[in-house]
Amino acid sequence: MSSQNLIHGEWSSKLVFILAATGSAVGLGNIWRFPYIAGENGGGAFVLIYLACILLIGLPIMMAEVMLGRRGRRSPINTMLVLARAEGLSRYWGLLGWLGMLAGFLILSFYSVIAGWALAYILHAGTNSFSGLDAGGVQRLFSDLLADPYRLLFWHTLFMALNIWVVSRGVRSGLEQAVRFLMPGLLLLLLVLVAYAISSGHFGDGFRFLFRPDFSQVTGDTILMAMGQSFFTLSLGMGAIMIYGSYLNRQASIAKTSAMVVTADTLVAILAGLAIFPIVFASGLAAGQGPGLIFVTLPLAFAQMPAGVLFGTLFFILLGMAAWTSSISLMEPATAYLVENRKLSRPMAAFAVGGVGWLLGVGTVLSFNLWSSPIGLTLSLPGGSVFIGGTIFDMLDYLTSNIMLPLGGLFIALFVGWRMSLQSVQDELGLKSVWIFKAWYHVLRFAAPVGIFLVFLKAVNLI
Ligand code: PFF
Ligand code: NA
Repeated sequence: MSSQNLIHGEWSSKLVFILAATGSAVGLGNIWRFPYIAGENGGGAFVLIYLACILLIGLPIMMAEVMLGRRGRRSPINTMLVLARAEGLSRYWGLLGWLGMLAGFLILSFYSVIAGWALAYILHAGTNSFSGLDAGGVQRLFSDLLADPYRLLFWHTLFMALNIWVVSRGVRSGLEQAVRFLMPGLLLLLLVLVAYAISSGHFGDGFRFLFRPDFSQVTGDTILMAMGQSFFTLSLGMGAIMIYGSYLNRQASIAKTSAMVVTADTLVAILAGLAIFPIVFASGLAAGQGPGLIFVTLPLAFAQMPAGVLFGTLFFILLGMAAWTSSISLMEPATAYLVENRKLSRPMAAFAVGGVGWLLGVGTVLSFNLWSSPIGLTLSLPGGSVFIGGTIFDMLDYLTSNIMLPLGGLFIALFVGWRMSLQSVQDELGLKSVWIFKAWYHVLRFAAPVGIFLVFLKAVNLI
């Protein structure tokens, strides 16, 4: 590997890693995807399973992924190759890096389109378009946006250009400062929204929907969706966290930093849920209406609350920025790989990655208008027949979150738990407490991989 350009500097401090990893984790996954997937899956029971997945699968795998990155110090593909060689293992482990890179492109493609919605809503909020609208009005505003492929394409293009710009300058510059005020700002605005939700008189309904589990509604697919959401929201299973770990210095505690990132991410998701569902019930909207959920609930709040134009504009700016700090982490593994192996300059690499993501994103743009009728096939499985398919967006979203990321996580757990020597693992993780190390190691070896595997089996009705 001596011929590779090592692109790496190090984060200026442990805090910077926490900021960057939190920037990657906190994004559309928390504020857009968590509420709408929870809404589609009936609330409470889904949320409980999601939280269990975060703790039992997400946190241990995040520690493993950061650890691999810090030990390998390269793009995920090269990290896996270097580590496999150092441990005397098969070169096929490099495929884990390739799987992650593919997942990264696919997620980037639709992520940018949805982030484009947030950008479009900065303009709506700033020009007072929500004022006087009722539930029907905000729904019309949103469906008008979706119906216009050119508008969607415009915002998608703008967002991708912003990504290319930052990634080509290197993840460090700007990102640190951005995340530093982004996170407090986002928390503050979510608290404002939760306060509004409390004043709406339906806070109890929203709270019960999110936290009172009704397990009679839970199917294998609900569990798969909850697990998929835990991977998506923590940026796990595709090398984004791995490559950020590769910039982390040797002294920092992987366990503590990971725990902080997971806590921040979970907090933002729960606050988003608490802000949105009371509005859903107060205005008679459908909890399970899908990807538009936040775009038809929050504008109602901004239309009615004092200083709604200000708060609304700020909110969608911060949402766009949160999406931005996440999507640059989606681009980073492939960009680093191109710099290392193809000797491209960083700007060229960023442009290539963003360009491919942009092109694939056209499929998602059209999923909401010209190509909105579902495509797919009906399969007969042991438990009955199911329809597999949807729009291009539906399929990309389902395939990446529910299959590719957990599969990546499964192999990360197997690699660290079963194939790397205990010595290297202990050495790199550097946990002072033997007790915590043992707990983590056992969960990573047994609970996490078995859990992922069982969820897969359950989802196809085999158990
Ligand atoms: N975690 C991000 C979010 O919650 O919005 C999305 C994401 C970023 C997923 C990076 C995967 C990834 F590698
Ligand atoms: Na997230």
